[in-house]
Amino acid sequence: MSRSHTARTSQTRTDWLARRLRASIRRGVLAPGKRLPSSREYSRTLGLGRNTVLAAFGKLIEEGWLVARHGSGTYVADPIPVIPAHARRAPADLAAAFSPTLSRRGMQLASTDRPRTTAFAPGVPDVSEFPFTQWLHCLQRASRRVTPRMLNYGQGGGLAALREALCQHLALTRGVLCDPGDIIITSGTADSLLLCATLFAEAGDGAVVEQPGYSQAAGVLRSAGLAVSAVSVDAEGLDPLRIQTAAPPRVLYFTPCRQYPLGHELSMARRAALSAWAQRYGAVLLEDDYDSEFVGSGEPRMPMRAAPGGESVVLLGSFSKIMFPGLRIAYVVMPHALAAQAQRAAARLFMAARPWEQLALAEFITSGRLRQHLLRMRASLARKHGWFRQLWQKELGDVMRLAGDAGALHGVAMLPPGGRDQPLVQRLREAGFAPEALSSMCLERPRSQGLVIGHGSLSMGELKRLGPRLVHEIAAGLRARA
Ligand SMILES: Cc1ncc(COP(=O)(O)O)c(C=O)c1O
Repeated sequence: MSRSHTARTSQTRTDWLARRLRASIRRGVLAPGKRLPSSREYSRTLGLGRNTVLAAFGKLIEEGWLVARHGSGTYVADPIPVIPAHARRAPADLAAAFSPTLSRRGMQLASTDRPRTTAFAPGVPDVSEFPFTQWLHCLQRASRRVTPRMLNYGQGGGLAALREALCQHLALTRGVLCDPGDIIITSGTADSLLLCATLFAEAGDGAVVEQPGYSQAAGVLRSAGLAVSAVSVDAEGLDPLRIQTAAPPRVLYFTPCRQYPLGHELSMARRAALSAWAQRYGAVLLEDDYDSEFVGSGEPRMPMRAAPGGESVVLLGSFSKIMFPGLRIAYVVMPHALAAQAQRAAARLFMAARPWEQLALAEFITSGRLRQHLLRMRASLARKHGWFRQLWQKELGDVMRLAGDAGALHGVAMLPPGGRDQPLVQRLREAGFAPEALSSMCLERPRSQGLVIGHGSLSMGELKRLGPRLVHEIAAGLRARA
């Protein structure tokens, strides 16, 4: 018999004995703290070489199943390890053997970072205006009303109290009539979009987004495996006649009440054309009504979901702007005919927010506090908008026009011909400001060049202090390029 064969056989016997001992310890046949027969006895009764027994003991000592007490023998560890020592120690070559890498869509998601500052960031409300003391009271009362049932599984779709309150809120402020059962509570618009992409499209289907538009939406739809293409918007909003997709379109994400970021309202003619387009392709319209409660000047803008025949439009909403982004509560209003199925699917994906916050929010809405807060926010936004506009006109009015309505959290300024927004945004970031480049909100070429400036992210005091510095920095950036 060759030497290597002998070594293999002895190794096999060691492993066999080690396995038997482990199994006996796991099953409790060898109880924690029990003294084992000596290696000599094992060797005799099992007919194994003593070295084989000692090697098996050594292995189990190393793994934490056994302990050797000098002069008194070998014992079963007490307590026995939940995860044996050998499994806790990563083999040295594990890292080399398996180093995970991100997928393409993972890398795409990871390629953009939110700036650290929120000064002048678009889409960010001034959270200092939020009535936190009132909110804390609602949370305290909610904490007393949370039931064990609410803490368990089965709350997919959201708590009934919040869905009922939201129904009232939507009817009152947005003219949307729906049943509580049509509403699904999620933890943010990204969740809402993932849910809709999953429910309405297969991987590889086409999705359409606006250009410029909410880049997060394109990112999420792409992450859901959809082939995303963009349709450009003009002063009437998106033009369905210009939609071109590589794959059959199944969903279209859009912001008809206040186009993000340009602020236009989708015209009636385009709304009709879009309905016809959706019907022709069997595509689902995902209407994001993200901040229309901040009505600016003029008539409130009506969601497509609220219009006659709009019941098949899926409405997405969020409390990030009208309350505060850290709340992470958003919602989807499903077409009534699909609502029950959608509720069951949503429950499988565990998307809804925490019960305390949901209950507190229901009370915040029904007690009228949300409406009071909205009224205050509207007035304050209009003041900020007016002040910033004046400053802009005075300092930069001849070079760049600032567009945007009084109800929006941000305005958009197009760069003069030939200007590039990315270097300018980089310069502003270095100075501590977070406006976004309009080009970064465009999926396809040609990309518009401009700045999306969130004056609504600051308090009036901060705006007065930082506004002139921002404007000065923009002017310097434009000059440096000239
Ligand atoms: C167009 C648009 N929709 C929705 C949201 C809100 O997203 P979330 O609910 O994830 O906070 C934002 C936030 O910036 C937005 O700009």
